[in-house]
Parts: sequence; C-alpha cells; structure tokens
Amino acid sequence: MKVIILAGGNGTRLWPLSRNGYPKQFIKLQEDKLSLFQETFIRSLMITDITNIYVVTNINYKFLVMGEIEELGYNFNEVNILVEPEGKNTLPAIYVGVHEIEKQGHDSVVVVPSDHMIVNSKDFAEIIKASEKLTKEFLITFGIKPDYPNTGFGYISPGDKKEHGFTVKEFKEKPDYKTAVEYMELGYYWNSGIFMFNSKLFIDEVVIHAPMIFEAFKFSSNAQEAFTKIENSISIDYGIMEKSSRVAVIPVDIGWNDLGSFDSFYDVFEKDESNNILNKHNVLIDSTNNIIHTESSKLVATVGVDDLIIIDNRDALLICKKDQSQKVKEVVETLNSRK
Ligand code: GDD
Ligand code: MG
Repeated sequence: MKVIILAGGNGTRLWPLSRNGYPKQFIKLQEDKLSLFQETFIRSLMITDITNIYVVTNINYKFLVMGEIEELGYNFNEVNILVEPEGKNTLPAIYVGVHEIEKQGHDSVVVVPSDHMIVNSKDFAEIIKASEKLTKEFLITFGIKPDYPNTGFGYISPGDKKEHGFTVKEFKEKPDYKTAVEYMELGYYWNSGIFMFNSKLFIDEVVIHAPMIFEAFKFSSNAQEAFTKIENSISIDYGIMEKSSRVAVIPVDIGWNDLGSFDSFYDVFEKDESNNILNKHNVLIDSTNNIIHTESSKLVATVGVDDLIIIDNRDALLICKKDQSQKVKEVVETLNSRK
C-alpha cells in the first residue's frame, strides 16, 4: 500500500500564522508540539513502510518538507518528495503521485491531506487497512458525521450498503448554506478529504472525467512539463468525485478536525481554567475564552477581554472576534488586491 501526502496548499484563513511561503501544515501551533505535517507523516507510518510514502508539494516547500521529516529523525529518500512547479489544486497533485506509483505497477493508494488533525490515529490506520479490499472496485471516501452546515466541505449521500461502507448516490462539493442544511437533515456525510483507491481505477476514472490531465502526463517527460499543459486548477472533488459512479463512502469516527479556522483550533486545543488558549509567558487578567498566540518572545497582556483571537507574529498582528474567524481570509484577499 502506498500513501500520498498532499502538502502543497496555502491556507489563507489562518493568516498571519500561515503565509504563502509558510502554510498551515508546517506551523507549530503549540509549544513543544509537532506540526500537522509531522503528525500526518507519523500517521502514514502506521499504515505503510517509509519507502511507500510520497509527499507531493510545491517546489517552494520542498526544503521545508525535508527539514520537517529530518526533525522527526527519519531518513526519507528525497526521490519520494514529488514537486509541482505551481499549485493547480488537488487533482493534478494526486496525479503526480499516482503517476509515479504506477511506474512500479498497480497498487492501492491512500491520499491524505497534511493539514488535518486526527485524534484516534490507531483507529484510522486500522480502518485504512480494512478498507483495502474495496479499492479495486471503488474510489473510497471517508465520511464524517456533520455537526453544523459547513459550506467549505464536500457532502456525500450514502446509497447501498457495501461491506463496512456504502455506495455513493451523490457527492456534492462545497454546497451553499441552504443546501448544506438540507443535506444534514437528509443524513449526508462530510467528505474528510482522505481518499483511497487502486492506482489503476483512479487513472481509468481520470481518463473518463478529466482526460486533459491524463493526456498532459502521457505526453510529457516529467511533472514540470505536464503542468504547463494543464490549463485550469481543479480539485479531485470537482474533477472526479462529483462525476464518478464508482465512489464509496466509509463512515468513520476518528476524532477528525480539518482545523480550517482559528475557531476550530479553539475547539480542539488545551485551554486553561479561564478557557483561554495561550503561550505560557502571556498574562491574562479577568479574560476568558480567548486564543492568544505570540510567535516572538513579546509579552501580551490582556485585562477584561473575552472571546478574542489575538495572533502576534514578527510582522503582523491579528485581532479578531471569536466566531468570525472564517473572514480572516478576506484580510489576505485585501492584501493581495493591493499588490
Ligand atoms: N501538493 C498539493 N498541491 N497539495 C495541495 C494543493 C496543491 O495544489 N492544493 C491543496 N493541497 C492540499 C492542502 O494542503 C490540503 O492538505 C489538501 O490538499 C486539501 O486541499 P484544501 O485546499 O484544504 O481543500 P478543501 O479544504 O477546500 O476541501 C477538501 O477537504 C475538505 C475536508 O477538509 C475537499 O476534499 C472537501 O470535499 C473536504 O470536505
Ligand atoms: Mg482544507
């Protein structure tokens, strides 16, 4: 079994912690803790041998990836870090990995995002291993029971029962709010963003639903050249999962959180007795329910302040009301429009 770790995204909702040059998966969110990428790497080792792990990332992050793995004490073969010349979203990125894997013959492949949290890693590894037998027949997705109508996720409606999962009646990526509410009532699952399939089945489905990607790689000698032929960015969700009739969903309860915003960080990280998340050196008086994160040794003190997100790093300071952190990406959009 092979694992493809996707590590090329550039999460904008966590600005100023995540930047174009330093995205969410590499941030060390709590002192003495691993980055999400490092957690993902360790989780992947619970599924397969280190030689079967591939990291697909942007050329700009290659050395970050190498440094992160070295820091864990592993000797990772550089040839297993596959680089894209530019980000074209997840379908071309996954294709880079599958194309490389296919050089050694067909195999089952697990695709994992590098910026999520999974609390029950052991259960996750067990489920992956148990799901392998379905990979020749289905593109497998792993479904999470939704607890609110998040419009940033894919939604999956389960159909007929199949082993420990279901066939998929409908896969809808990022529905509008009203539809998300409807889907929740109808018992749809969230797509966790983790996929599993046999490399041959994946390529067959790309030939049917995204032939331009298949051809770009077929008639190129490397990923660099193939990427010049891929005109539009496209995710696996829109490009394959919404269209394919070979999708299955396996519902999982693994303590999954995509940590998409500071609010979701608040839900999962350790809080002090006043429900604050803070670096130890900061001083909070009569302040509750805050996230205070400083990257330098600068001391932040608050008095009588509730429900705030304060993120201070070298060259930017974010102050945001809790429950509005989805809008942080608008800061990045504004900054980009000034360039
Ligand atoms: N190598 C590479 N290249 N990786 C990428 C690229 C790229 O161009 N774009 C994104 N990624 C990585 C991200 O770093 C992340 O780990 C993963 O691929 C998914 O990309 P996101 O951009 O975070 O996708 P999303 O959150 O909008 O949606 C996906 O995940 C949701 C769950 O978190 C979809 O699969 C949804 O259906 C799903 O619900
Ligand atoms: Mg994401």
